Amino acid sequence: MSDKKYIIVTGGAGYIGSHTVLALRNNGYHPIIVDDFRNANKDVIERLESLLDEEVIYFSAACQEEPRLRGIFSQFPIHGVIHFAAYKAVGESVEKPLMYFDNNFGSLISMLELIKEFNVKHFVFSSSCTVYGDPKQIPVDENSPVSYNSPYGFTKKVNEEMIEQFIESVSEIKAISLRYFNPIGAHESGKIGEEPDGIPNNLLPFITQTAIGKREELTIFGDDYDTPDGTCIRDYIHVADLAEAHVAALNYLADANDRTTVVNVGTGKGTSVMEMVNYFQEETGVDLNYRIGNRREGDIPSIYANTSKANNLLNWEAKRSIREAISSSWKFEQFIKEFRK
Ligand code: UD1
Repeated sequence: MSDKKYIIVTGGAGYIGSHTVLALRNNGYHPIIVDDFRNANKDVIERLESLLDEEVIYFSAACQEEPRLRGIFSQFPIHGVIHFAAYKAVGESVEKPLMYFDNNFGSLISMLELIKEFNVKHFVFSSSCTVYGDPKQIPVDENSPVSYNSPYGFTKKVNEEMIEQFIESVSEIKAISLRYFNPIGAHESGKIGEEPDGIPNNLLPFITQTAIGKREELTIFGDDYDTPDGTCIRDYIHVADLAEAHVAALNYLADANDRTTVVNVGTGKGTSVMEMVNYFQEETGVDLNYRIGNRREGDIPSIYANTSKANNLLNWEAKRSIREAISSSWKFEQFIKEFRK
């Protein structure tokens, strides 16, 4: 029996998944990507291979294709599963809730069935700070009440509970749900990053696409919030730090006393939209075309993480600065423009 620690990474060709594959490999784990490329480009695999200077193990399969996945689970002794694969656009989830329920619940059910069947002991789930809704107290800690204001948020909240109830029914499997704050940035090489399909929903991809000329102008969604400069505040975390949190989570699970837990993954610092725009201009020297527009429906004024649990339990903290994240995203935007020509 191999003593290699094989980790199945569903959605491993996606934005956070691909960075996590790099972090896993750089920390001695052996990632196996399971992705059906519905929301990622196949050339991510080649770029990962060039960064790692070795072949990447990947399978083009959806999580709900259980017979195919059974083949993968039988082929390797699997140490753990990191489950990223899911739909993630809030607005789209409001329009197509059933599509979100089908994919986000169905994929998780498949993965839980498989880890039970193959006796896989460690499970890491991608959750989101969206489960806090509009928090009464910030920074938010893991004991803050959870709620949801979209079908997407609902799937994350229910997914966390599904995992907890499932864990009750089995012995020996341990699971952790990581509640991500706002991931930004790209790999330092600029070769792996966030490449949204169509018009970006998220702030930094919209900024970089505007700066490079793909979008006309950035609209800042409201400057009349009850915050110091009137724009919303978020906890932007470098994707490479977030990726390392998954390595820390797997390391933690190996010796964990609790069989299931939830942990915030953020920096603990809030940054406003206006600050982001200013940092971008300062870091890149690009004059950004922006205007102040109306508030976006569903946006909350302010949220950032209490990170004590991640620091203490996972022995992890965010190391990279917001400016590093911004300049790596800009590097990636320029790289991908040339790459897609
Ligand atoms: C969004 C999702 C959240 C998800 C997260 C993942 C919503 C309501 N929430 O969070 O569930 O987990 O992405 O990354 O969609 N902004 C602008 N102009 C833009 C785009 C954004 O001003 O063109 C502002 C927004 O108003 C917000 C901030 O930038 O204040 C960050 O927005 P975004 O990147 O979309 O993240 P969230 O809304 O925090």
